Amino acid sequence: FVHQLADEAVSIPALLASPLRAAAPSTLPLPRRLYGESRVNALGVDPVVERERAPLLARLAVPMPAAPTDDSAASAALAMDALHRAQPGWNAVPLAERCAVLRRAADLMERQMTELVALLAQEGRKTFGDGVAEVREAIDFCRYYAEQAEARLAPQALPGPTGEKNELCLHGRGVFVCISPWNFPLAIFAGQVVAALVAGNTVAAKPAEQTPRSARRCVELLIEAGLPADAIRLVCGPGETVGAALVAHPRCAGVCFTGSTQVAKIIQRQLAMGDGPIVPLIAETGGLNAMIVDSSALPEQVVDAVVQSAFRSAGQRCSALRLLLVHEGVADKVSEMIAGAMAELVCGDPADAARGWSVDVGPVIDAEAHAGLSAQVARLEREARLVARTAMDARFAATHIAPVAFELKSVGEMKQEIFGPVLHIVRWTGPVDAVIDQVNALGYGLTLGIHTRIDQRAERIAERARVGNVYVNRNMIGAVVGVQPFGGEGLSGTGPKAGGPHYLYRFCGEQTVTVNT
Ligand code: NAD
Ligand code: ALA
Repeated sequence: FVHQLADEAVSIPALLASPLRAAAPSTLPLPRRLYGESRVNALGVDPVVERERAPLLARLAVPMPAAPTDDSAASAALAMDALHRAQPGWNAVPLAERCAVLRRAADLMERQMTELVALLAQEGRKTFGDGVAEVREAIDFCRYYAEQAEARLAPQALPGPTGEKNELCLHGRGVFVCISPWNFPLAIFAGQVVAALVAGNTVAAKPAEQTPRSARRCVELLIEAGLPADAIRLVCGPGETVGAALVAHPRCAGVCFTGSTQVAKIIQRQLAMGDGPIVPLIAETGGLNAMIVDSSALPEQVVDAVVQSAFRSAGQRCSALRLLLVHEGVADKVSEMIAGAMAELVCGDPADAARGWSVDVGPVIDAEAHAGLSAQVARLEREARLVARTAMDARFAATHIAPVAFELKSVGEMKQEIFGPVLHIVRWTGPVDAVIDQVNALGYGLTLGIHTRIDQRAERIAERARVGNVYVNRNMIGAVVGVQPFGGEGLSGTGPKAGGPHYLYRFCGEQTVTVNT
């Protein structure tokens, strides 16, 4: 063991000065949530799911309401003009009232939990556990941003010379265009929109094509909570036409985008080409997220973290683990244990009353995603070594992708984000710095997992890694609002942290007023 650590370039005197961590239980409690209803461990049975089982199943039996109709590029432009006219009025609403709207919306979402979870299962193809977690996250965003707005957005007196009064005032920038993905159709949609609104902007909210109903329900609840109807417009339709029209509109004062790196770059180019003002872009995009496991790590803890991080939500999380880097000395054992854990996973449908309550992996979002993922898996079957694949009932073959793990020879074989339950494993030996450098060279920078019982090593990896969120000795998904501010750098985004204390500033204009008294 000491030989292996020497091989990994840990200094032995430093190691002796920094004893191994005591073995921790393999199931880590999540940090206690500050907001929302939850007090549960993500691995445990969720009391809301238990309590609401019958009403949820009843709701699933009822077909979804019709989707909102698509807007045209021309109607998107009209919506931008109307939002521009409404913005001064909304910005003039006292900050306390804007915050109150968010809090009332949170209360409404809490009361509508069952309805919202059912909608997320039907439209977003979420398991009930994921649906409940998502509604809680949306509630958390509303309450957290209300709290942060009160603490940070009020005018601030600044020190100055005698005879002069200085004040820094924050205000909405104008019309914010909020463009969201399908994988968190309520939480990310709500998080973007309420952050922009509470800062005094009016909002053109453009949901993903796959999930407009969840977005419409969120807008309805905001209006029911007291948001003036002219402060927000839900604008639906294809990103390439309707989304592009919003971004290109001369009244667009800011863009908050969450989605793929490729589309973020298209939007950035489009903004740069406009003739009008310089428009800021908040981009939160994808990742090629790695987990580094050294030979001191606890295998049970590693396996638990890998399975959750790579396969929960069918791998359709930007934070999900894509690349497991495991030290050669423990690689065989860890791979074998991962295969064992993958054999226990249940692929199924939330509506399956017989098995729905033990479903770990639900369907992927749509047929297009299924076809793309199937092609990627077929490519890996040709190019890499299959380590394990979860068995799946044949009736799910057209809707689900069975969790699968492949071993690659090198990190360099990783090319792009595969947005599904596909894990790549690469073995490493030698100095850990070289491993971190290879991960940094991929150019993404969203999440990173570290498993080691050597504190000194965890600190070194975290310091050297160019990523937004580092998780040590636990899973690397499910950032909690106000607890783990979330967002990445490089190809993973422009850096702002959703659910963090600085986020709202990104939606504000600032004005310094100096008065000669
Ligand atoms: P996507 O980029 O295809 O679409 C996202 C949104 O952009 C959709 O609303 C779409 O209609 C719109 N859009 C597409 N082309 C556009 C254009 N030219 N102009 C304006 N808008 C346009 O992403 P997706 O498939 O919906 O979501 C999956 C991706 O999102 C993954 O890459 C995932 O990693 C990423 N994601 C990132 C985060 C994060 O916080 N970093 C969170 C969730 C998802
Ligand atoms: N914020 C989400 C997570 O951390 C995407 O998994």
